[in-house]
Amino acid sequence: MQPALFQRFCKLAYDKAGIALKPGKEALVTARVSKRVRALQLGDAGDYLDYLEEEDDGEELQTFLDVISTHFTNFFREPDHLDELARALRGWMAAGQRRFRFWSAASSSGEEPWSMAMTVASQPGADRTDWKILATDIATHTLAAARKGHYAADRVAPVPRALAQRYLERIPDPAGEEPDRFGVVDELRSHVVFQPLNLTQPPFPMKGPFDVIFCRNVFIYFDQPTRQRVVQAMEGLLRPGGIYILGHTETLNGIRTGLKMARPSVFVKAGGEGQ
Ligand SMILES: C[S@@+](CC[C@H](N)C(=O)[O-])C[C@H]1O[C@@H](n2cnc3c(N)ncnc32)[C@H](O)[C@@H]1O
Repeated sequence: MQPALFQRFCKLAYDKAGIALKPGKEALVTARVSKRVRALQLGDAGDYLDYLEEEDDGEELQTFLDVISTHFTNFFREPDHLDELARALRGWMAAGQRRFRFWSAASSSGEEPWSMAMTVASQPGADRTDWKILATDIATHTLAAARKGHYAADRVAPVPRALAQRYLERIPDPAGEEPDRFGVVDELRSHVVFQPLNLTQPPFPMKGPFDVIFCRNVFIYFDQPTRQRVVQAMEGLLRPGGIYILGHTETLNGIRTGLKMARPSVFVKAGGEGQ
């Protein structure tokens, strides 16, 4: 792909989703765009860009953002964050709190919010509380898979055995030709809501406040001004004493925020009981 054309794709990704594509991504973008050019029976990547810029409903833009993003995730990824969630929840329940709102802010294909749901549901006493998880992502196709919540056996392998037995059910292939898949049980489904959301375009439509926000492994896409905007908007939706969690490789260095680091990647909003 010509550098000037690559730059135009970069600008589109940045303007629409705050995604800052790095120079090394030319090969990936070229490959993914070529697939879309073929699928839409267009001439070349330039035609595809025109198509994206001219379409009315934003449908293909969703597909573009979906295919250029990295959705890598896993069940129980960075599991100490789920321990953190469990510990905080137990503390708050012991203090008498009975309503909890959690947010998985870049939920990808769902492994993160479903891991959060298994963690919350398995805490003694959680069944007597009102708890909900909001799971959001910009990529609508990926979000649809997350909502469906069906996974191949190798995907669910990291789920601790006791939780897998309780919260996953086997889904045989109706034709008996494909390997069985595993779906999350209805008991969890009633607690998790999936919504499309672009994190780089605050204000967000939710009222909050949230007790815990997982915002893990999405900052890699954003430049510093975008991170500043996102953190500020999320901080406003976190309740005092609430917990904000980034990915292990991410920091809030250089960002103006009232969030205080409790440990690397874990932050607390001042003003409440906290941790
Ligand atoms: C690498 S995945 C992280 C998934 C999960 N949080 C984890 O840590 O395993 C990053 C996700 O961020 C989403 N994303 C990228 N830009 C976004 C934006 N502007 N708003 C919301 N989500 C975005 C991508 O679609 C992708 O699913």
